[in-house]
Amino acid sequence: MAKLLALMVLGLVLAFLGERFVTFRQVYTPHQVHPVEPPSCHLIQGLENGSEDIDILPNGLAFISTGLKYPGMHSSAPDKPGEIFLMDLNGDDPRAWALPIRNGFDTQSFNPHGINAFTDKDHVVYLYVVNHPQGKSTVEIFRFEGDSLFHLKTITHELLSSPGEVKEVANGLSFANGITVSPDRKYIYVAAVTSHSIHVMKRHDNWTLTQEKVLNLGTLVDNLSVDPATGDIWAGCHPSGKKLLMYDPADPPGSEVLRIQRLLSPTPTVTRVYANNGSVLQGSTVAVVYNKKLLVGTLFHKTLYCDL
Ligand SMILES: *[C@@H]1O[C@H](CO)[C@@H](O)[C@H](O)[C@H]1NC(C)=O
Ligand SMILES: *[C@@H]1O[C@H](CO)[C@@H](O)[C@H](O)[C@H]1NC(C)=O
Ligand SMILES: *[C@@H]1O[C@H](CO)[C@@H](O)[C@H](O)[C@H]1NC(C)=O
Ligand SMILES: *[C@@H]1O[C@H](CO)[C@@H](O)[C@H](O)[C@H]1NC(C)=O
Repeated sequence: MAKLLALMVLGLVLAFLGERFVTFRQVYTPHQVHPVEPPSCHLIQGLENGSEDIDILPNGLAFISTGLKYPGMHSSAPDKPGEIFLMDLNGDDPRAWALPIRNGFDTQSFNPHGINAFTDKDHVVYLYVVNHPQGKSTVEIFRFEGDSLFHLKTITHELLSSPGEVKEVANGLSFANGITVSPDRKYIYVAAVTSHSIHVMKRHDNWTLTQEKVLNLGTLVDNLSVDPATGDIWAGCHPSGKKLLMYDPADPPGSEVLRIQRLLSPTPTVTRVYANNGSVLQGSTVAVVYNKKLLVGTLFHKTLYCDL
């Protein structure tokens, strides 16, 4: 059911993206980025043309989408198809490598965006990938086979293109982007990019959502992940929307990672765990943690790995 909800909201977001993008362009508030870095960070070799979304399985296998081409957004490899990379975060110095895709999938038009990995009751791992081949939106389902991905099916459901079929579960959000669920599944966290905030929605049994609170963060919040061990929220953020949208290699967009602890309490703690003006990392979209390690993905740039 959570998947269904995610799909509904996704449909809604995609449907309104064009319109909301105008708002996105207007509401940027660049601020100075003072560098912050955990003690030990390095860039991942082979992942330098974006790592838009990252999903980590409970066993430490990280799936990373790379090579997103998106209207209005810079791409550092516009002629290279997108790929899914795998990283095993259990080793000391984990490598990332591209997973070959089998079963006749059209890899040339592969343009992966958001990804979700999950393990079924028989321990089979499936990957759900939002894909934008030739400007369309589909969801691709793959089975993970240890050293490759086996393409199972393409979903081109009307929910992904027809707003009439979508149930609006929340409104008044400015460009709802990252969406995630609290570990107890009672709350939905939505990153509202243009209003620089995270909205906490309570999920009712009848599939309606009511707003519980809004936390203002003063930066463009892109994607959210929840640390399953602590319940902390990790946000990949953009200090300047303007630099992101009007890409200038001489004055690149920076990166920012925030950790939010005790979001549901009256006094959440927000920590800026990583910040850089673009000299090291540009356009961070997502931050995920596993076993005191932090992985930071970007829209079109490199990928950072840090010890916490
Ligand atoms: C990134 O893209 C550039 C330009 O297409 C290409 O030369 C380079 O090999 C790519 N890097 C990787 C690691 O794929
Ligand atoms: C944001 O992250 C979640 C998981 O943390 C993922 O399922 C989703 O696809 C991501 N969305 C985008 C737009 O990257
Ligand atoms: C859904 O449940 C909530 C909480 O119980 C209630 O306040 C709301 O009126 C319900 N909405 C609908 C449409 O049934
Ligand atoms: C970014 O920061 C580095 C040092 O932290 C500095 O050398 C560089 O000039 C800064 N770049 C911009 C565009 O501000």
